[in-house]
Amino acid sequence: MKFFIDTANLDQIKEANDMGILDGVTTNPSLMAKEGIKGQDAIMKHYVDICEIVNGDISAEVISTDFNGIVEEGKKLAALHPNIVVKVPMIKEGVKAIKWFTDNGIKTNCTLVFSAGQAILAAKAGAKYVSPFIGRIDDSGWDGVQLIEQISHIYNIQGFKTEILAASIRSANHIIRCAEAGADVCTCPLEPILGLLKHPLTDIGLAKFLEDAKKTQ
Ligand code: E4P
Repeated sequence: MKFFIDTANLDQIKEANDMGILDGVTTNPSLMAKEGIKGQDAIMKHYVDICEIVNGDISAEVISTDFNGIVEEGKKLAALHPNIVVKVPMIKEGVKAIKWFTDNGIKTNCTLVFSAGQAILAAKAGAKYVSPFIGRIDDSGWDGVQLIEQISHIYNIQGFKTEILAASIRSANHIIRCAEAGADVCTCPLEPILGLLKHPLTDIGLAKFLEDAKKTQ
């Protein structure tokens, strides 16, 4: 399973990248706004800055909702760097645009996916990634990981090549459950990634080894 970091914060991107486990980055308009990135030029520069830190797929989201607008915006984003993946919302015009991008050699990430039916449409249109939002599904009282299992099952039996990118991850446990459920990628903030490191027995064991090591010096 690939690891993407879900942030537009350059320090956190660098920190995860320095661990040597990062395969890519996802952003969205809310994450860009959180970092105070304002204006078209600043947004474009920020994507290039991210591409210069991480050698992997970097999702950049369109804000147009009509076919022509999505295509024009996506072309500009894709021209920024070969690693840019155009992130397109799961709406009718978005599906049409994903098909256009696929036919024209531009990678896409179909976002805001909350059902197996939507995941089938994204795959049919040729999206490189489909992003089911598991945390938001959990927030509404459903089980987001179950959706990952269902999509994984469908893609396997149908031979769809689209990669399942588990998004909206809230915890280290989400990452583990998504790995079990067959996600190809998980994208999450830095905290859940660092959460994977934690186990009290590791801390206790290390303290003891370091204590005993003093006796050998
Ligand atoms: C990433 O591609 C998604 O935009 C992101 O994971 C959404 O996360 P959230 O539900 O925490 O906003």
